[in-house]
Amino acid sequence: MHIAIGADQGGFELKEKIVEYLAAHDHKVLDLGIHELKSVDYPDIAKSVARSVADGEAERGIIVCATGLGVSMAANKVRGIRAALCTDCYMARMAREHNDAQVLCLGGRVIGFGPALEIVGVFLTSEAQGGRHARRVRKIDALDERE
Ligand code: RB5
Repeated sequence: MHIAIGADQGGFELKEKIVEYLAAHDHKVLDLGIHELKSVDYPDIAKSVARSVADGEAERGIIVCATGLGVSMAANKVRGIRAALCTDCYMARMAREHNDAQVLCLGGRVIGFGPALEIVGVFLTSEAQGGRHARRVRKIDALDERE
C-alpha cells in the first residue's frame, strides 16, 4: 500500500520506527518529514500528509505529533479527510471499519513503540464495512459542504 507519513518534533522518533516497520512490510512510503529532529509547526506536516491522501497520491496517511491531538485537528480540516487519533488497536480497527478513516494519528509521547506499531498494523489491515456505516460516513463528508 502507498502510505504518506509525517511527524513534528514530538512524533519524530516514533515516525522513524513506523517508516522502518512499513518498509519491512513491503509498503511504499512517502516520508514527508521531518527528516531530522528540529522544531516545526505540526499543522504544516498534517496538511502535507492529508493533502497527499486527499489528492490520491497515497492511499493512507499516518501523522505523529506529541499527543496526536494537533495533527488530527489539522488533518480533519482538509476536505474529504477523515483522520482518527487512536490509542489502542480497538480504536484503530473501528476507525477503519466504521469511520472509514484514511489517516491515522498517533501521539509519540503517549504510547510506546510496540503498541504504536500494532495500531499501525491493525489500521492498515482493517477494511471499511460499508452499509449503515457508509451512510454515516457520507454524512460526515457532507459537513464539508456547509456554508
Ligand atoms: C509540540 O510540542 C506539540 O504541541 C505537538 O507535538 C502536538 O502534541 C500538538 O498537538
